[in-house]
Amino acid sequence: MLVEKNVPLQPLNTFRIVAKAHTLVRISGETDVQAVLADPEWGGEETLVLGGGSNIVLTGDVKPIVLKVEIKGLRLVSETARAYIVEAGAGERWHDLVVWTLAQGYPGLENMALIPGTVGASPVQNIGAYGVELQDRFESLDAIDLQTGQLFTLNAAQCAFGYRDSVFKHRGAVQAGGHRGLGLKDRALILRVRLALPKPWKAVLGYADIARKMTEQACAHPSAQQIFEWVCEIRRSKLPDLALIGNVGSFFKNPTVTAEQCADIIARDPRVVHYHLDDGSVKLAAGWLIDSCGWKGKSVGQAGVYEKQALVLVNRGTGVDGGGATGGEVMTLAKAIQTSVYERFGILLEPEPRVV
Ligand code: EPU
Repeated sequence: MLVEKNVPLQPLNTFRIVAKAHTLVRISGETDVQAVLADPEWGGEETLVLGGGSNIVLTGDVKPIVLKVEIKGLRLVSETARAYIVEAGAGERWHDLVVWTLAQGYPGLENMALIPGTVGASPVQNIGAYGVELQDRFESLDAIDLQTGQLFTLNAAQCAFGYRDSVFKHRGAVQAGGHRGLGLKDRALILRVRLALPKPWKAVLGYADIARKMTEQACAHPSAQQIFEWVCEIRRSKLPDLALIGNVGSFFKNPTVTAEQCADIIARDPRVVHYHLDDGSVKLAAGWLIDSCGWKGKSVGQAGVYEKQALVLVNRGTGVDGGGATGGEVMTLAKAIQTSVYERFGILLEPEPRVV
């Protein structure tokens, strides 16, 4: 267990917001967590679990003890007739897991290539892209209760996955994804995640961006590696490079509305990008709603709306000076966007990242 005081968090959050952690503990296994909980100085203190820092907006210095998860390990647990079961330490980078599984001959994660963040964060917001969500490949996870120090395992139903949602995002009673139980926000530290990569592999090709690649390259039956490369190309063309421009990916969730609400919005603007879901509801493209309110390229201080994708807020000041957007500027911009989308379409956009 490595304990550091007054730690700059700018390198540890992908928005590159300047803030400090009063105390930061690097966690490389469950014994480190047990040691923190047993320590007379820290036992009972509030904690903040930090993975890759790719879904967090820091609005000031962090007083709770930051538990920086650095648990490593990638392995095949078992192979059944229907799936490869692989296990990854929570501190592994998600994209490294995608690359490793493909190299080992266990396809199934290729549509989720290049999603920033760590494996441990992936179930928290049920990451997803190009028609595949974590819940479609999830088997189980091991976690530790930060109040009692007890280890426990959850299956998919117990994680209560929803669109960018899970039991780990709620406090108190949860009723989501067919699950009723207690929320685990700030209560659990995820140690390891197991995924089931189905056999035989089947390509997921439904998304328009992927269908376009198939047409362009006259490739009707792409391999998993081919899909991986396309997804990397699509993401690189639309989303800012994290090494150059601070951001947390999509800043808002795509809202779901009823068919009547959608008809009302179409009456206001027939160009609204929308997708009909199996349950009769309609998903709207938040990026389109924000774009059509004229936000692309706009800024508040050094926080801005990305020029190529209005759903992504960026730090325009990430530079060698260590300055840049503050969390306050990011949230002021986010609130102004919410207000203008609400006034024009009657839809309240919900932020995706965690605001601390
Ligand atoms: N659009 C605009 N203007 C914009 C942005 C988007 O008109 O400025 C339109 C696009 O033309 C498209 C539609 O909105 O018709 C949807 O855009 P896109 O396909 O780029 O996907 P998205 O809805 O913006 C979601 C996820 C992404 C994921 C992609 C692909 C959410 C909140 N975001 O984005 O996930 O990569 O689909 O599956 O669900 C993330 O969560 O951080 C993330 C990047």
